[in-house]
Amino acid sequence: MAQQFSQERLRVRPSSREEAVVAAAEEQFEQTLIRVRGELVGSVAALSHPGGRSDAANYGEVFLRDNVPVMFYLLLKGRYAIVRNFLEVCLELQSSAYQTRGVFPTSFVEEEGKLLADYGQRSIGSITSVDASLWWPVLCWLYVRRSQDWEFGASQRVQRGVQLLLDLVLHPTFEGTPVLFVPDCSFMIDRPMDVWGAPLEIEALLYGCLGSCCQLMELAQRGQSSRLLEQRLVLTRQWKHDLRRYLLKHYWVTSKTLQVLRRRPTEQYGETQGLNEFNVQPQVIPPWLQDWLEDRGGYLIGNMRTGRPDFRFYSLGNTLACLFGLITAPQQRALFRLVLHNRQHLMAQMPMRICHPPLEGDKWREKTGSDPKNWPWSYHNGGHWPSLLWYLGGAILLHEQRHPQADVLLMGQMRAMLEECYWMQLNQLPRQQWAEYFDGPTGTWVGQQARTYQTWTIVGFLLLHHLLRVEQQDVSLLDINRD
Ligand code: GLC
Repeated sequence: MAQQFSQERLRVRPSSREEAVVAAAEEQFEQTLIRVRGELVGSVAALSHPGGRSDAANYGEVFLRDNVPVMFYLLLKGRYAIVRNFLEVCLELQSSAYQTRGVFPTSFVEEEGKLLADYGQRSIGSITSVDASLWWPVLCWLYVRRSQDWEFGASQRVQRGVQLLLDLVLHPTFEGTPVLFVPDCSFMIDRPMDVWGAPLEIEALLYGCLGSCCQLMELAQRGQSSRLLEQRLVLTRQWKHDLRRYLLKHYWVTSKTLQVLRRRPTEQYGETQGLNEFNVQPQVIPPWLQDWLEDRGGYLIGNMRTGRPDFRFYSLGNTLACLFGLITAPQQRALFRLVLHNRQHLMAQMPMRICHPPLEGDKWREKTGSDPKNWPWSYHNGGHWPSLLWYLGGAILLHEQRHPQADVLLMGQMRAMLEECYWMQLNQLPRQQWAEYFDGPTGTWVGQQARTYQTWTIVGFLLLHHLLRVEQQDVSLLDINRD
């Protein structure tokens, strides 16, 4: 079991093949780029084998979420034209249908000269992604700031896209909270995993999205201010502020906050219910949290629903919360302590695990609909995704850059862990053909149904390489709050 898994076995040696591996990865990455109307636009999700394009299923399409690291990488490399092209094609495909107006597609591809987009109608289980739409303003703002293409940012097309998207968020709802309610499967975890409601990844991303929308609207306001725009800005800023307060209040847990939670009154209503708004019974707090949190660890839980918090740890939601500044600097360090303390679970042999712990037994049967791909410790259900490591790396390096004096001992340990994780990937990924995901409690087995030459595995590694070896300062690109 993972618990008995010795830390010693995690020690890895640097490899003298570093340069060759990086050069080969760069070459693979070039092959993932495809054209729309003759112009490079972004990457397919996976190449099935070296030199060839995947024609299996939809891995040959340009997924918006898979292209997030791709666009970051292209921005770092100064290849702005491809990023702008990507943003423009996405904008062109933003839905104008009455019931989905403002939604960006999950993926698109050009077939026989025609642009085809998937809004969910073609995917397994007909699921629609919400994260794709929330990422677009973030990528757009980072592109505009890095390339200084202010004109594009302030253009009518972009501003209209932003307003259409905001319409999907800033509207009255039955419960009047600042979170965005979504169905199961609406983000990277796109198979049933009981992640419906207000899952952390969506809410953290929403926070970054609202911040980026504000930055883009401010650009337009500088050019030509209008009362309508001014009102939208005030509302968006307020929403973002309320969302943060809500998430910090209901999602952030430490050993201390849990002890308070365990002793709260239940079954409250009326004026007194402020103490336990979601009527959470102390019995739902799982025992594994005691060791997981130890004394000084903290993290954002996966979801909050009446009576049923989801205490699973989600790696991407938590690292995005750091990158977007949703959690405070001391909270970020509490999160880093937690990652370090639970390294045998979260990193093990292939950094890093997507969520922890997995759903098992009856829970797996009920919540996933007996999904064999999401078998415990596999795929989304506790599998290991190398593409996630660079987000954590970015969060650590950005924290160091913003707070160089803070807890140097901890940050030194985080840096050492990151280095080791980098070498693990460097040593294993080329041999495992840049697989999509890895299975089992230690993540040593290549995912049972994993694609090979998966783009975000390759580009995630290249991003980490860039930030660790080429230009650490570039991590500031990820700081959406910088003007
Ligand atoms: C799978 C993943 C999803 C990813 C897609 C393309 O459906 O679950 O997150 O976007 O493959 O790689």
